[in-house]
Amino acid sequence: MDSHSSHLNAANRSRSSQTPSPSHSASASSSLHKRKLAASEDHAPPSTSFPPSSNDDLESLSAARGADSGSDPDESEYAVHDGYEEDFAPEPDHDSSIRTFTAARLDVNGSSRNAKIKTEEISTVELQAGTGTAGAIAPKDEAAKILTCGAYIAREEALRREEEAGRLKFVCYSNDGVDDHMMCLIGLKNIFARQLPNMPKEYIVRLLMDRKHKSVMVLRKNEVEGGIPLVVGGITYRPYHRQRFGEIAFCAISADEQVKGYGTRLMNHLKEHARDVDGLTHFLTYADNNAVGYFLKQSFTKEIYLEKDVWHGYIKDYDGVLLMECRIDPKLKYTNLSSMISKQRKAIDEMIRELSNCQNVYQVAEFQKKEGGSSKNIRVEDIPGLRDAGWTPDQWGHTRYTLFSGSGDSVTKQKQLNALIRGLLKTMQDHSDAWPFKEPVDPLDVPDYYEFIKDPIDLKTIGKRVESEQYYMTLDMFVADTRRMFNNCRTYNSPDTVYYRCATKLQAHFFSKVQAALQSGAKSQ
Ligand code: COA
Repeated sequence: MDSHSSHLNAANRSRSSQTPSPSHSASASSSLHKRKLAASEDHAPPSTSFPPSSNDDLESLSAARGADSGSDPDESEYAVHDGYEEDFAPEPDHDSSIRTFTAARLDVNGSSRNAKIKTEEISTVELQAGTGTAGAIAPKDEAAKILTCGAYIAREEALRREEEAGRLKFVCYSNDGVDDHMMCLIGLKNIFARQLPNMPKEYIVRLLMDRKHKSVMVLRKNEVEGGIPLVVGGITYRPYHRQRFGEIAFCAISADEQVKGYGTRLMNHLKEHARDVDGLTHFLTYADNNAVGYFLKQSFTKEIYLEKDVWHGYIKDYDGVLLMECRIDPKLKYTNLSSMISKQRKAIDEMIRELSNCQNVYQVAEFQKKEGGSSKNIRVEDIPGLRDAGWTPDQWGHTRYTLFSGSGDSVTKQKQLNALIRGLLKTMQDHSDAWPFKEPVDPLDVPDYYEFIKDPIDLKTIGKRVESEQYYMTLDMFVADTRRMFNNCRTYNSPDTVYYRCATKLQAHFFSKVQAALQSGAKSQ
């Protein structure tokens, strides 16, 4: 008889092929390629020496002289034409702060250390986890009890504990001339220079030292008495207060501390700080191929929902990198996310427990011992937990089969099962509506069949499994294969086709035979 495939034609199909949407991948590198708004394009000499030489810091500071907008004749090279520089308060004499800082560094006795220049109103803020204004948070003692389930929570909690113990500190510094802050900025500059090798070093220094930019940093306490804290990493951004968004310029964690959760915690601190201190609602950033994955995990999206008028012309424009956006939630306690997630998880667990008994663990090993260690003696209905899980003896599968077996060992039972299955298979093969199912569908006849049907089956394949006498260990398995065969047919073919009708008729015939066999088996017991 003809195979199923030979009877199929395109007109019969109930579905048409779908064309998968092309995946797009950015092939960008992180090099600073172009800035449309800059007056000159040839301003950014490539970085050459990494790691920086010992003179690096001083060179960087010299470069930083030009970083302060409005104070450098070369300003136009790197300036961002945001059109509202007047929005910002007049800034202090940058050169003098740099001079002071340099002098402080060279002063071995430290006599000029901490000589603050009155510029701190810009942004010298120590960030504290959980001290913002928004949302309810877990009390500290409760936080200690939180179950650390999942890598995210475990890392966040570990870092939070470090913070609470005073070993880690998240701060926001900008170029304010305070010695310690400047040292930290230089430490951060070195990390950026190493971690973002395609960024010109001078460009990094310029933005980092530009007073319109702020840097949220994670610092580790220096064990040396009075030592400057070690910079673990940081994010430099520029807040656009009137537009209420910020642009992230650089973000990096030192090489030996990556993938330990610092990047995530830093971003959480940044979001809270930018929202609560700067009044920002969004962040934008240009991410290169390597960084897109990290930013996606920090809730950045590739879609830009912010009105273009709000940001266009304000932020720097790069080629070959992807502009990403992040909306800052107005209430979320970002630095307490782990505690919130733990609580939500606990609440969901409790609800699940109310609805199910999946938390009950049954000692199957004990049960087996009691039954003499042999599976031959085990009755399905005696298996601990099975009835609790909702199983009843009239269900398909083992139980239906045992209705036939009545007595005898497992070999006898398997023989009885095989005989039953053979008989059922034959009644299908002999049926006049079985012809579409006798052979596997030939892809030459129906080229797109296997695009739609991922788990094909047919009577010939089922027959081979029956012949092996080892495949169908339960009646249920056999019934599942036949059911799939009919379902596949109805998935691929539309209801007005002969194949669809054959499937329905043969299935009805098959199930009537199964019912009859079950009933006669039950009577014979
Ligand atoms: N691509 C994809 N995923 C990344 C990633 C990257 N480059 N860097 C980190 N991740 C993932 C981590 O595996 C982790 O995923 P998980 O939560 O599923 O385990 C998650 O992001 C957060 O990791 P975390 O440990 O908090 O980040 P981090 O401390 O390693 O900091 C960077 C992330 C990107 C800042 C850091 O890897 C880095 O400095 N990279 C080099 C500089 C850089 O590319 N900066 C970004 C552009 S300015």
